[in-house]
Formats: sequence, structure tokens, C-alpha cells
Amino acid sequence: MMRRPVALIALCAGLVLSTQALAAELPQRWVSAGGALSEWVSALGGEAHLVGVDTTSQHPESLKALPSVGYQRQLSAEGVLSLRPDVLVGTEEMGPPPVLAQIRKAGVRVELFSSKAELDAVDENLRHLGQLLGAEQQATALATGYRQQLDGLQAEVKQAQVGQKAPGVLLLVGHAGAKPLIAGQGTAGDWLLRQAGARNLAEHQGYKNFSSEALAALDPDVVVFSDRALADEQALQALLKENPALAASRAVREQRLVSLDPTLLVGGLGPRLPASLRTLAGAFYPAAKASFAQ
Ligand code: HEM
Repeated sequence: MMRRPVALIALCAGLVLSTQALAAELPQRWVSAGGALSEWVSALGGEAHLVGVDTTSQHPESLKALPSVGYQRQLSAEGVLSLRPDVLVGTEEMGPPPVLAQIRKAGVRVELFSSKAELDAVDENLRHLGQLLGAEQQATALATGYRQQLDGLQAEVKQAQVGQKAPGVLLLVGHAGAKPLIAGQGTAGDWLLRQAGARNLAEHQGYKNFSSEALAALDPDVVVFSDRALADEQALQALLKENPALAASRAVREQRLVSLDPTLLVGGLGPRLPASLRTLAGAFYPAAKASFAQ
């Protein structure tokens, strides 16, 4: 009978020690590539671990002050290794593969996450990040809250569709206006359009270049444009200058042109999407704009 408390104390002490041992094994110095993924690291309280990020990791604003490892698709082993990280986190967009192999060979853990535009991928990414940060409960709470926000929005979109037909939309990702890539099926861009209640007029898989004539022929009701070099009005002017045929489309004639931050489209589905979806839905359903503006 007397032994029990002792055994219990020993058990508790053992648990505390093993939790501490686990914490000591968690990676301390992190490099993160892919905007949305870096945002989740921050949202889970991991920002203090970041010793470097790629150029698409621009949110929260404080990440811009960190050393840069260049563009996530074009990392260099020297750039990453010079920061002496314990772990490099990124999605399948991260590369090139030989550089990742070199980084692994140098003894740095490379942890891969999904950039798939699916809610299950968000759950899994959050679980995995939570484990690496020792923040499992926060990760579960974030995943639940995310689904709730999106479910709420879906109900409002359905409501808006009672009064207005879903608009036909194209999402263009440009580089100073030139050769825009059109977001097709399976992309984060397509997911965004559909979640915000649009019909994506592009039926191809992935991102693809279209001629400006082909773009105009699809005659979108709304064009969502995203440019990785220019912002808002400048991006729009460059797009119209490089793709003059677009001027004939309904979207341009009616000035239904919506700017989208390109960092929302990289590194998987990120934490700012529910808010961005509200802005998009408001542009797609003008009569219901006030309801989406919360
Ligand atoms: C903040 C956002 C982004 C930045 C800073 C950025 C930057 C870059 C840079 C510097 C390059 C390589 C050089 C070049 O072709 O000019 C590049 C290539 C590329 N980017 Fe991005 N990009 C961004 C967003 C995106 C988005 C949203 C997509 C999705 C469509 C994308 C897809 C690509 C692809 C497919 C390539 C070619 C990759 C290759 O040839 O290996 N980028 N980007």
C-alpha cells in the first residue's frame, strides 16, 4: 500500500523527463520555404525558430526581416547550409531535387509537406508541424477553426447563389504581365475560385500559358489576376498591355478585375485564405458583398 505513491511519483518524474528529452530532440533552427507553410509555422508560435525563409514567405510581415534562401523552387545548398539549420521545411514545390539531396547529405533534416489544394492536406500539414514544434494541441485547434471558417463561408456562398448565377472566372498568374499562367484544375487557384463560388472557365490540369486570344475567347465575367513582380494597379496595367486581346472580354469591359496576392497561392493552403475568400466572394456576388465583408 505504501509503495504506490512512490511508484506514482517515479512514474510522473519519468514522464516529465521523457517530455523534456523529447523537447530537446525537436529541431531548434528552422529554414522554411513556401509562403503558406511559413505562415502556419508562425501561427503555431514557431517564428522564433526560423533562421531563414524563401522569397515567397512574406507573411507575417516580420518574416521579411529574416535571411533569405532565395526562391523556393531554386534553392542553393550553400544558401541553406550557411544558416546551420536543424531542419528545412517545405512542400513539393520546393527544389530543385538535387539540392535537397545535397542538404540531406549534409545532415539537415528535410521535412516535406503537401501543397495539395485540399483540406485534408491542411490537417495533415498542421499535425506534422505541430509535432515538430511540440505544439500538437494548437495545431488541432487551428485545423478545427480553419474548417469552421470555410464551412461558414460555404453556407453564405450558397445563399448568395440563390440570387445570382455563379460567374465564370479565370485566374491569371503573371510575371510583370507577361505570359500569364492560367490556374487550371487541381491548383490552389482553382480551389480558391470554387470556394468563393465561381466557375473556373479553365478546364486543363495545373497552370498553363494561354495566348491572349484564347483567354479573351473564354470571355470571363471576372478576371482574378496575381503577379509575382508587380502589385495591384501596376500588375493590371502590365497584364492589359501584354495581352491586348483581353480588352474585348466582358470582365475588362465591365471592369470586373480583382487583384490577388500571389503569396496566397504558394506553399499549400494557408491561414489567410478564409479572409481572402470573403473578398473574392464579395467581388463575385456584388449584391451579397455586405454579407461577405465581415
Ligand atoms: C510571391 C510569389 C512568387 C515569387 C516571388 C516567384 C518567383 C519566381 C522566380 C524568381 C522564378 C524563376 C525565374 C523566373 O522564371 O523568372 C519563378 C519560377 C516559377 N514560378 Fe514562381 N514566384 C511566385 C509565385 C508563383 C506562383 C503563384 C506560381 C504558380 C503558378 C509560380 C510558379 C512558378 C513556376 C512554374 C516557375 C518555373 C519553375 C521552373 O522552371 O523550375 N510561382 N518564380
